[in-house]
Amino acid sequence: MNFRFLGTGRCLPQRVVPNDELAQYVDTNDEWIRRRVGISERRVCTTETTADLAIGAAKNALEQSGVRAEELDWIIAATTAGDCATPALACVVQAALGAHCPAFDINAACPAFIMLLETAAAFFARGNARRILVVSAERMSRVIDWRDRSTCVLFGDGAGAAVLGEGNGYLRSVVHVSGNDTILRLPHSHGNSPFYTVPPEEPYLHMNGQETFKFAVTSICRDVRELLDGAGLTADGIQHFVFHQANARILEYAREKLRLPREKCADGIERYGNTSSASVPIALDELNRAGALSPGDLIVLSAFGAGLSSAAALIQW
Ligand code: UT7
Repeated sequence: MNFRFLGTGRCLPQRVVPNDELAQYVDTNDEWIRRRVGISERRVCTTETTADLAIGAAKNALEQSGVRAEELDWIIAATTAGDCATPALACVVQAALGAHCPAFDINAACPAFIMLLETAAAFFARGNARRILVVSAERMSRVIDWRDRSTCVLFGDGAGAAVLGEGNGYLRSVVHVSGNDTILRLPHSHGNSPFYTVPPEEPYLHMNGQETFKFAVTSICRDVRELLDGAGLTADGIQHFVFHQANARILEYAREKLRLPREKCADGIERYGNTSSASVPIALDELNRAGALSPGDLIVLSAFGAGLSSAAALIQW
């Protein structure tokens, strides 16, 4: 026994920031951002916290699932841009929902939503969980350097969630990690110890864009092939591909290499930018609420990011 999806939800901040507006802060322009990344606008928090986004997405998912907060057995959250290091985001969500179950966070960067599913699957396999809430929430605007045009134009804020219940909808997964802390890195604040003598590193996201790009295309293609081969399926048998939305060119390369029709691939990058671990559940919720998912549909999720890590999952709706 593993799980099936009982409901999904998402929450985006109100404030829409179009590309042109970013030119007020850094030397950039709409044409470069559209052509190189495929983003037109993103949502950015003005008063919302990461917890607000997580709670909003969680409430939507609970409402759709018909599950009450008191019925949850676990809440597991993921964030790279939480409001604080502790308590865990999941604990703040638990309190806001009025749930009583245990709650904790995982740290797995952009592929974290799939890692949440993987973690939840282990709880269901133990047989002592009947309903689990998973939520990914990211306030990337808090952790990017707004003086750095090579990163600040890429990201957006948002959250996505799902309520999982007993079932057989989580068919297969693959996870790869190739440890590397130089290509993509978000250091903590350096603190103020009078004894520590190493020069401080700025506590913002640092990324080697081209290396990350190569890693992204390679890992999506490898993970999806491994997933489908393992399941004895080809892309023809899959109804939807939901990939991490980091760059429209990455998605285009992956689509070409895997020979996937565009209409089977979820989108979101143009409207939301890269929302890190929230991009996959936001895209899934959009498909779900648009009525695009039918019972029995096979869906491939795939994501990559800091770690360097990547994960893919085959689910049945
Ligand atoms: O979820 C986390 C995973 N992250 C990713 O998957 C990101 C992967 N990487 C990428 O998407 C791309 O590498 C970027 C979008 C980050 C950069 O695109 P690129 O085609 O690799 O550009 P580049 O870094 O080679 O820069 C090309 C030029 C440079 O100018 P010169 O040196 O050729 O004069 C940059 O300074 O573009 C310049 N540039 C910009 N120009 C206008 C860099 N950022 C900007 C900008 N606006 N925002």
